[in-house]
Amino acid sequence: MSTARTAFYGPADHDLAPVAAEAIQVSPLVVGATDVASIADQSLDAIAIRAPAGVVERLFVLAHALRALTVEGRLTAFGPKDRGGLRLKKELEAFGCVVGESSKKHNRICVALRPAEPVGLAEAIEAGAPRRASDDLWTQPGVFSWDRLDPGTALLLKVLPELSGAGADFGCGIGWLARSVLASPKVTKLTLVDLDRRAIDAACRNIEDTRAEFVWDDVRQAALTLEKLDFVVTNPPFHETGGEDRSLGQAFIKTAAASLRKGGDLWLVANRHLPYEAILNEHFAKVRLAGETNGYKVYEARK
Ligand SMILES: C[S@@+](CC[C@H](N)C(=O)[O-])C[C@H]1O[C@@H](n2cnc3c(N)ncnc32)[C@H](O)[C@@H]1O
Repeated sequence: MSTARTAFYGPADHDLAPVAAEAIQVSPLVVGATDVASIADQSLDAIAIRAPAGVVERLFVLAHALRALTVEGRLTAFGPKDRGGLRLKKELEAFGCVVGESSKKHNRICVALRPAEPVGLAEAIEAGAPRRASDDLWTQPGVFSWDRLDPGTALLLKVLPELSGAGADFGCGIGWLARSVLASPKVTKLTLVDLDRRAIDAACRNIEDTRAEFVWDDVRQAALTLEKLDFVVTNPPFHETGGEDRSLGQAFIKTAAASLRKGGDLWLVANRHLPYEAILNEHFAKVRLAGETNGYKVYEARK
C-alpha cells in the first residue's frame, strides 16, 4: 500500500493540471504504476486525473480518486471535450462534489474538493471492477474490447493452425488468442505481453497454464529479451492516446521480426485499411494473406 500523499492518473499535462514532483502514477497504462484501487481510503491530499474516454472506466477512476482523498482533498480531472470532458462536471456533481470548471486546449478541466460524504462511490467502483464476462473470461471495462470478442481476433482464431514450440502473444489483452494457442500440446512456452496492467491481470486469471508467462510491458521493450521464437501471434493496437497511430502496429511487426528465429512465423490480424504489407515484406522472407473478412485481414509472415 502506498504512503504517497499525491497521485496522478495517466500522462500528466502540467498546462491543464500541475502535478507535484513526488506524486505517484496510478494509471494501469503506465508500466510499474500503483493500482489506484490499492490506495488506502482518505490517504491522499490531491490527485490529478487525465479522464479516460469510456464512461464506466471514467466513473470507476473518479470514484476511486474520491475514495482515496482526505475530506477537502483536491481532485483535478480533465479530458478532451469530445472524449468525456463535457460530462465530467455533471459526473462529479452526481458524486456530491461542488465543481469548478474551466476550458483550455480543447479540454474541460474540473476541480473539486472531496466532500465529507460523497455518494455513489461503491456503485461506480463495482460497475468498473474486474469481472467475468464474455465466454466466462475475466475482464474489466477499459480493457480492449472488454465485453466481447473482437471481430479481428475472431478471424485470426479461425485461421490459426495448431502452433508448436516457443512463442509470444504481443498485446495479449485478456488472453483470447493465448488461450487458443495453448490448446496445442506442441506449444512449449508462451510469453503474453501487454501494456495494460488490467489486461495482464485478467489474462493471468484466464490462463492457468505453467507454459504461460505474463509480462506487463511495452512490446517494444519486452521484445528486447525475446529471441529465436518459433512464432508470434498478434492483433496489434493502432490507437495511442485516442488517435490512430499506424507506427505502433508497424513497431509490433518489426519487434516480432527481431524476436523470431529464421523460419519462424508471425500471425497477424489487422483492419484491412492499415498499411502493413510493405513493412511485412521488408522484414519477412515470405508473406501470405491467410484470411480476409468483414474489413479484417490475417497475414502469415515467415522470417
Ligand atoms: C487490438 S488489442 C488486441 C488484444 C487481444 N490480443 C485480443 O485479440 O483481444 C491490442 C492490445 O495491445 C495492447 N497494447 C497497446 N499498446 C501496446 C504496447 N506498446 N505494448 C504492448 N501492448 C500494447 C493493448 O492494451 C491491447 O490489449
